[in-house]
Parts: sequence; C-alpha cells; structure tokens
Amino acid sequence: MNAALKDKVHVIASEPDPVLGYRKYKFGSFSFERDAYFVHVRWPKGMHTIEVDRFLRAMVRDIGWGFFYGWIFFDDVFGTQNHYGTVDIFAGTYSKGHRDTKVDFLETFNTDDVRAAFETISVNWINEGYDPLRAPMETGSPLGPKTREAKGPLLRGFDPARRMMGLPGDVTPRSDASGHPINRAFADVTYDKPTIEQEPGFEGQIHAFNLYDHIARADITWNPSFTSITGACICCVTSEEHMLPVIHGNDRNEWFIQLTDEIHWNIQDKNTGNPRGRIVMKSGDVCAMPADIRHQGFAPKRSMLMVMENGTPGLEQRYAKGELELFPITASRWK
Ligand code: PHB
Ligand code: FE
Repeated sequence: MNAALKDKVHVIASEPDPVLGYRKYKFGSFSFERDAYFVHVRWPKGMHTIEVDRFLRAMVRDIGWGFFYGWIFFDDVFGTQNHYGTVDIFAGTYSKGHRDTKVDFLETFNTDDVRAAFETISVNWINEGYDPLRAPMETGSPLGPKTREAKGPLLRGFDPARRMMGLPGDVTPRSDASGHPINRAFADVTYDKPTIEQEPGFEGQIHAFNLYDHIARADITWNPSFTSITGACICCVTSEEHMLPVIHGNDRNEWFIQLTDEIHWNIQDKNTGNPRGRIVMKSGDVCAMPADIRHQGFAPKRSMLMVMENGTPGLEQRYAKGELELFPITASRWK
C-alpha cells in the first residue's frame, strides 16, 4: 500500500453546457468533457477522444473494482494504475507513439479522490435508460444530450462475499426473489440445488449452492464479484457478453476458468501494447495470465467465467522487482 499524498484534490465542475446539458470537469491536470458521442480528455501536453459508451462502461467498473489489480486501460491510451492507496491517471504512458513524441502524461492521486471524481463525472453523464453495466443489447443508448440523470445506485453487483456467498450473515446469491430472473442466454441450463449430506457432528457447518444459478441471473456483465475468499485466494464469478470494457494490465498472475460458452482474449505486452498472443477459451478451459501483460476478452454470446485472484498484500511489488516468476507454471517445472 502506498502512503497517502499530502494534498486532497477535488474535482471541479463547470456550469452545464447550454446546448447539451452536461458539465465539464477538471481533476488535477486533467480535464474531461463529453458531447453527444465522445469524451474528450485533455492534459497539459495533449488530448484524446474516447467513445462515450466505452468511457462510461470502463469508468463505472474502475470505480466498482476499487481500481482493480494493476492497470485499467479505458483504451490503448488512457487509464489508471492502482498502487493500493494511491492511483495514477495516465495518458499515453503505455503507448510507444505518445512516449516517442513526448505527449505522454501521468499524475498520482489519493484513491479516495479519484473515486470521488469518477463518481461525480459518471453520475452527471449517465442518463436514465442507459446502464453501462449491462450488455449493449440489454440497455439503451448513452448518445445525445442530457435528459434525466439515471436513478438508483451508480454501482450494483459489486458487493463482495466476506467468506462465501450464501453463508448466514454473508451476501446472498441472486434469485427470483431478489429481482434477478435467469438471463435469456441461459434458459437451457438445469438449476438443481445441491444435496448436502453432513457427517454427524458437522451439522450446520457445510454449505453449498448452485453457482450456475447465481451467474445465470446476473443483470450486469464483466464484473467479477467476490464469491468466496480463503485467505488471499479470491474466487470471482461473472457473466460476459460483448467485450470487456477495459483492457486489464496485470501486476500479478490471474487465473481464468471458462465455465460455459467461449471468450476470445487478446494478449498484449503491458508497456508497448505489442501483440503477445490470442487465446480462445472454450467451456472447461483454464488459463493463467502472466504478470507482465494486458488483456481484453471478447464474448460473442453470453458466457460464464470464473476468475481467481491472489490478494496477497505487496505481491505487485514482488513481481515488479523480479522476485517472482511472471508465469505461474514454467516449462522446467513440468519435467
Ligand atoms: C480481467 O481483467 O481479468 C477481467 C475483468 C473483468 C471480467 C473478467 C476478467 O469480467
Ligand atoms: Fe485481468
């Protein structure tokens, strides 16, 4: 965890634009402006334009994930890096072209300040009828002028299990009663409840639930929410449709288990963005992402994915110093 910075930075809002109705924002040396189609990000040496849908889908997840493990690229140019206490906002830092022409820029803020700024911007720019957490075919359009701000919480579905979902006092799996019907894509799956047979003396201590039933009811996509935690081993499940709205740069290994259907992954070098590989994961496939890459998934139809994270504090520094191998399994260990 990085020590907090001395100065608190507040986001500064303009008056609403007289034509489109959205506010512009300044945060540190960055400014953010949205129009009907695009978000324009400016910093002292440059500027960059991102489609508004892509920007909002990335921004709400970045907030909800607490800036995740390592890097969140909104696209190849703009994003955040988590230092677990502080957060970098960068533009062009991991793009060779921006670095070569010296228009790259990075500024570090306290995590709470970035969260507050991103929340303020998202709330002002999200209209009723558009939900950046849903699959594109299951929500309205973010384009055009400001109408009415969306009601309800900005974030949902990010509630982490403390030990295991469904245990007494812990978070509850989704159900009809919680207002989460089975998604259209998973109508053909059977949802039997597990039978629990305890040995004498273990009554009330064994717990199980149908994980597929929980994932099939997700009304949000690309949100690996904590399902169980054992020490630092964090098991997350998520339903995926269309594309991961961010490119994730790893600061540690991360494991994927494809539970249904398929996801195509683009793997790039983290610093340059050069292509490193393509993976097509089909139902039952397992893969580990190395600690020095960025990756983005594409799900042609809704699929279920399990993501395993290692939440050991300080792990990112051990990888960065080269103390730990970038791959969880190297060929020499197979002999
Ligand atoms: C990832 O970056 O590893 C990731 C993020 C969101 C998902 C799945 C995987 O839904
Ligand atoms: Fe990842």
